Amino acid sequence: TRKLCIIGDPVDHSKSPVIQNTMLRALGLDYVYLWQRVPRGTCEQWLACAKYAGYAGFNATMPHKEDLVPLLDELDEDARLIGAVNTVCIRDGKTYGYNTDGAGFLRALADAEIDPAGKRVLVLGAGGAAKAVCLKLVQAGADVVVCNRTWEKAQALCDHDPAHLHPAGFDGETLAGQAAQCQLLVNCTSLGMEGTEGQFESFDFLDRLEPSVPVVDLIYAPPETELLRQARERGHKTVNGFGLLVNQAVLALEHFTQTKVDPAAMKDLLRDVL
Ligand code: ATR
Repeated sequence: TRKLCIIGDPVDHSKSPVIQNTMLRALGLDYVYLWQRVPRGTCEQWLACAKYAGYAGFNATMPHKEDLVPLLDELDEDARLIGAVNTVCIRDGKTYGYNTDGAGFLRALADAEIDPAGKRVLVLGAGGAAKAVCLKLVQAGADVVVCNRTWEKAQALCDHDPAHLHPAGFDGETLAGQAAQCQLLVNCTSLGMEGTEGQFESFDFLDRLEPSVPVVDLIYAPPETELLRQARERGHKTVNGFGLLVNQAVLALEHFTQTKVDPAAMKDLLRDVL
């Protein structure tokens, strides 16, 4: 039995062990996937431990995704592009970093038959999740407006590609104006997430969306955020974060085990478990 885990601080809330163990068992792969709390600032020590303890690899969540970048032997293109790592493989004592969040997001869009190419996308939020989403959307041929409460964070994100990323504010008037012009809306803020207090002050900006505009939320718990409910009631196609969650996990599992995995089968399997 080979060992895998998720590292984070906190880490208890992570669904990765349930997802990965379910997939590993279904695929008949002899691995076990654990939770491992790794305190902020101790990634270097963790890497030494993981090698010594014979881990095949691990996933990383808050606050380690960026901290791992300079510590690994090799990085894939997306990890370099996004400046964050969510998957690390250990082979012959060497560490390989990947970012499967961005590709998982694009795959989830494709599964929902949403093509971002040539579209003007309104992204809400400018945190780590928003960065992965924005950079992959631009790579896929979209133009993105990033609306964020903290202007400096929107600005800093957009500085990565000023030709295609445009910062904006998060007040009702700005959101309404941007909603009227966008062809796809993606929520990357934590507003509406289970276990958090925050909520959108108003959903009036949704009234300005063209009826054909899909509304995507990265949040998967609850399965339908208030944003998605409001959008659905206005007649929009809505997509929650389940597809991203499963797709990023499938891509990570493929790296860990060097096995090809059918994402559709895994989605069916995990729908009942999550
Ligand atoms: P993640 O890693 O999931 O992206 P994060 O980096 O903490 O998490 O980002 C959370 C995002 O939700 C940020 O864009 C944050 O806005 P700020 O940059 O202004 O902090 C946004 N967010 C969280 N609570 C919010 C609230 N009450 N109103 C508006 N935006 C909020």
